[in-house]
Amino acid sequence: MARISASVYCSHVPAIGVAIDQGKTQEPYWQPLFKGFETSKAWLKEHTPDVIFLVYNDHATAFSLELIPTFALGMAAEFMPADEGWGPRPVPVVQGHQELASHIAQSVIQQDFDLTLVNQMVVDHGLTVPLSLMFGQPAAWPCQVIPLHVNVVQYPAPSGQRCFQLGQAIRRAVESFDQDLNVQIWGTGGMSHQLQGARAGLINRAWDNQFLDRLIADPAGLASLPHVEYVREAGSEGIELVMWLIARGAMADVAGGPAPRVHHRFYHVPASNTGVGHLILENPR
Ligand code: DHB
Ligand code: FE
Repeated sequence: MARISASVYCSHVPAIGVAIDQGKTQEPYWQPLFKGFETSKAWLKEHTPDVIFLVYNDHATAFSLELIPTFALGMAAEFMPADEGWGPRPVPVVQGHQELASHIAQSVIQQDFDLTLVNQMVVDHGLTVPLSLMFGQPAAWPCQVIPLHVNVVQYPAPSGQRCFQLGQAIRRAVESFDQDLNVQIWGTGGMSHQLQGARAGLINRAWDNQFLDRLIADPAGLASLPHVEYVREAGSEGIELVMWLIARGAMADVAGGPAPRVHHRFYHVPASNTGVGHLILENPR
């Protein structure tokens, strides 16, 4: 039986990818950020899963205003890094897991979540920056990855509650897969940032840290936050944080199991325009 061993949460600022790709991680501006991921990289080396179920958002790269799927599951054998304007990032091609993705599609759709199934898709910084932060610069990504894109770019975005419930359905799907696989679920994007308009540059440290507190200890309560609070407190792009609730909803305690262990927690400002948050939660065996 497959199982979800841990969940990982982190922001996806494109400039972080540029700093890695251009060898700038030890420059004074970036060094404190990358230091916060050293423990995480060591942990992941020791706890490399078979598959990462990676919840992220595309930024009008693979999708556009022509087609706006709320939840889009990546079914392909591989996903190429996207050209976001400066050429594709020099990172490995993402290898999917078609059997598990097919099983998750079957199970989650039969649990009444109407996923869009995507057989061909390029992946942008939303997916590749978290992989780079956690794995560094390997020649190949050390495990397979199933992408789940969530629309948080064009309103209406799904509610936190819906995301939290989807996470629970994904856990049931993974646990009913009959191969013995170690699966991690990652929730990415956020934390507070606003990239346009009168409040461009907004960052809210206090709110971000309270979000991390509640994500650990009160995820069900946190799931009931309305969109307007994300936007008011964390800026227009702070809405990316609803994706973290999908990963959190897939943890064992939500289904009556033991509380997760907090392996690592980190928060850093500045990184471009974004409050960077990071958390590793492990399910006790
Ligand atoms: C930034 C953050 C994002 O989440 C994004 O998608 C693009 C840019 C930033 O802080 O620069
Ligand atoms: Fe983003």
